[in-house]
Amino acid sequence: MKKKIKLFEVNSDQQEKNVINQVLKSGFWASGSGVGNVNRFEEKFSKYIGSKFSVAVNSGTAALHLALSLIDLKNKEVILPSLSFVSTAHAVVYNGGRPIFADVDSKTLCIDPENIKSHISKKTRVILPVHFGGMACNLDTIKKICKDNNIILIEDAAHAAGASYKKKKIGVHGDAVCFSFHPVKNLAMPNGGAITLNNKSSLKSRKNLLTKRWCGISNRKGSTYDITELGWNYYMNEFSAAIGLKQLKKLDKVNKIRKKIAKRYCEEITVENKMPFNYECSYHLFWIRVKNREKFMKEMNRNGIETGIHYNPIHKMTFYAQKQKLKITEEVGKEIVSIPMHPNLTENNVDFIIKNINKSKYV
Ligand SMILES: Cc1ncc(COP(=O)(O)O)c(C=O)c1O
Repeated sequence: MKKKIKLFEVNSDQQEKNVINQVLKSGFWASGSGVGNVNRFEEKFSKYIGSKFSVAVNSGTAALHLALSLIDLKNKEVILPSLSFVSTAHAVVYNGGRPIFADVDSKTLCIDPENIKSHISKKTRVILPVHFGGMACNLDTIKKICKDNNIILIEDAAHAAGASYKKKKIGVHGDAVCFSFHPVKNLAMPNGGAITLNNKSSLKSRKNLLTKRWCGISNRKGSTYDITELGWNYYMNEFSAAIGLKQLKKLDKVNKIRKKIAKRYCEEITVENKMPFNYECSYHLFWIRVKNREKFMKEMNRNGIETGIHYNPIHKMTFYAQKQKLKITEEVGKEIVSIPMHPNLTENNVDFIIKNINKSKYV
């Protein structure tokens, strides 16, 4: 039977196998007194990004929770897109804040700065844009809005490891930037995430993040310590960090492959409404908009091509149910489909995907 073309696929080789064995044998599986892969990953990741520092955690969700916990959000508002994975909004609620959903730009599906402006109130403390599919949001305009209104910028860069905006890596622009290293992401680990803080960040120090990352433990002297604030157990483990170090070395190479695939999709897929090409994008996802999504996805599945939906708008979920109308998000939410995007796709796979999309009567 012909192998299905996967929507996402991890890219790994003998290097990852070797480091897993090394950590396994070392007996130090957690970080702290471990073999130091977590520390090394933090150093190398911030050097790659160009950020003041990075703090490694055990998921992108944890990164968002931790970064937002540096700000007092009780009874305050955070403006974010509804077209995202639910963690973006959950992280606001975990911290006692109120998510205010803004609409997206129909060309990039990133948060629309004009729409952000219409949602600003006296209670707005944070703007939380998502670099959708790895395409950078309009950060210059968003930063100006933040500056004019004394608002903090925290970015959800779960899709954007290796992406840049105006030649500077995503990770150096906002006050804090949150990454995910979930296995399907551009930089993959069993699970993991990181927060980078830029040099001018108004947020607190690395020490605060480290304290909150491990149960609020501070002022350690030998085996004694104090708790001065609440924290969580968000440590990255040594296996994830060791894999991450190998994946980081390959990140530019795999992103180049993703871009090459995206360029072909942009040039050869005849569907009009699709992700644009931008050389600075990391292409975690590639989306198209189709007329009959259910039938299109079934047809692709019959032809051996996996597809997915990213995302069902958050403001329509029962838990978040908001009466507000987000015109573009709601239209996109019914039509959007992700098509296979990962570095293991062959030229033949890409030919086959393009051919099948172009001949579908549901697009
Ligand atoms: C936009 C976005 N934000 C946050 C997350 C959460 O990351 P993680 O799965 O590592 O917790 C994801 C993960 O899929 C995501 O796509």
